Amino acid sequence: MTKGIIISGGWGTRLRPLTCTIPKALIPVVNKPVIERQILLLKSAGIKNIVLAVSVMDDVLKEYFGDGSKFGVKIYYTDEKNPLGTAGAIKLAERYLKDDNFFMLNGDVILNFNFKEMLQTHERFKGLGLIASKVVPDPSRYGVLITEKQSNKILKFLEKTEYSPPDGKYVPMPINAGVYILEPEIFKYIEPNKKMSMEHDVFPILVSEEKLYHYPIPGIWKDIGKPEELLEGNIQLMNDLLASSDEKKENLIDDSLDIDGKALIYPPVTIGENVVVRKNCRIGPNVVIGDNVYIGANSEIKDTLIYNKAYISNNVYIEKAIVSDNCLIHEGVKLKGNNQNLVILSSCVEVLENLSIIAPSNTSLSVCHHEVIRSDLT
Ligand code: GDD
Ligand code: MG
Repeated sequence: MTKGIIISGGWGTRLRPLTCTIPKALIPVVNKPVIERQILLLKSAGIKNIVLAVSVMDDVLKEYFGDGSKFGVKIYYTDEKNPLGTAGAIKLAERYLKDDNFFMLNGDVILNFNFKEMLQTHERFKGLGLIASKVVPDPSRYGVLITEKQSNKILKFLEKTEYSPPDGKYVPMPINAGVYILEPEIFKYIEPNKKMSMEHDVFPILVSEEKLYHYPIPGIWKDIGKPEELLEGNIQLMNDLLASSDEKKENLIDDSLDIDGKALIYPPVTIGENVVVRKNCRIGPNVVIGDNVYIGANSEIKDTLIYNKAYISNNVYIEKAIVSDNCLIHEGVKLKGNNQNLVILSSCVEVLENLSIIAPSNTSLSVCHHEVIRSDLT
């Protein structure tokens, strides 16, 4: 029976400071950890035996997912003391995966498509591996796939810097979307207890043996490598969930919301459990709010993620920001990003009254967890 493995043992360095306090795999995407969403996609394709190849902060992940019973699946864990690379990580799970083909997922991608159809495609192509692909405008940050149109065979797999466009200018190309279906024969290509990479050490060999195919995935796709991508990915997924909801909703709002009649919501907005929104607030568009959040009167929030238990006082203005769990934002504060650049507050940050935190025009502005901000930051 087809199983699944999700690899999520990297450090998540580009998402710091968000990943200083939680592993990347537990970063919420529309109020559910990114790998919980992947587990639910696997489950809806009938895949209920899932290995989590975790390493960094594995104790936190084990506490959240346990044996999987809360999520209606069986979860197993590998024991990877130090990161062994993307191939080394799955080699540790060989005993769970040796009997049939299996899905392998990079634990930091947001997607929402039917895994069953991908499996059917793999069974038709009969390769040793099938890589989900997505055409993106800037392929330079991903594994680039050079493919044969008719057969979907991959002719070259070029991880990041290995690809340089012929005239120096990147154009949209299919890239590795970080979801694979692999046959157990793959384990012959990976040495035990050695740091090895699928992208550098395994896929190029499969390509030379003409055993690797690609599957262009439908719908949304985002790697949440950087905070800006995390915000974009949340918005894309929120829109996708709304579009596919039966009731044609404009927002995803929990029934427990306690909102003043004079507050306004501009779709699309997601609001979790036990949230309070006081009078004259303007929330949205493109806002995701977690559970147990308080938003005081006359506050305005747009293009922003607010995580659980954040407290936002009266007359606060927030635009293009990520406000992590347990942050305390006092009255009259302004948090403002611009274009691609965000204001990012990590867990438990406190911003004192009437201060402004404004991202510069060329980079995001981050505040580390538990800091108390006592003067303006720009
Ligand atoms: N267990 C384990 N051990 N997991 C690892 C390790 C490791 O040593 N190294 C990385 N991972 C996990 C990360 O936690 C992440 O979930 C996934 O593997 C991918 O690692 P990233 O560091 O995020 O790689 P990337 O985004 O730069 O590139 C990869 O993903 C792109 C698509 O998002 C590559 O697979 C590219 O080819 C691909 O296009
Ligand atoms: Mg990534």
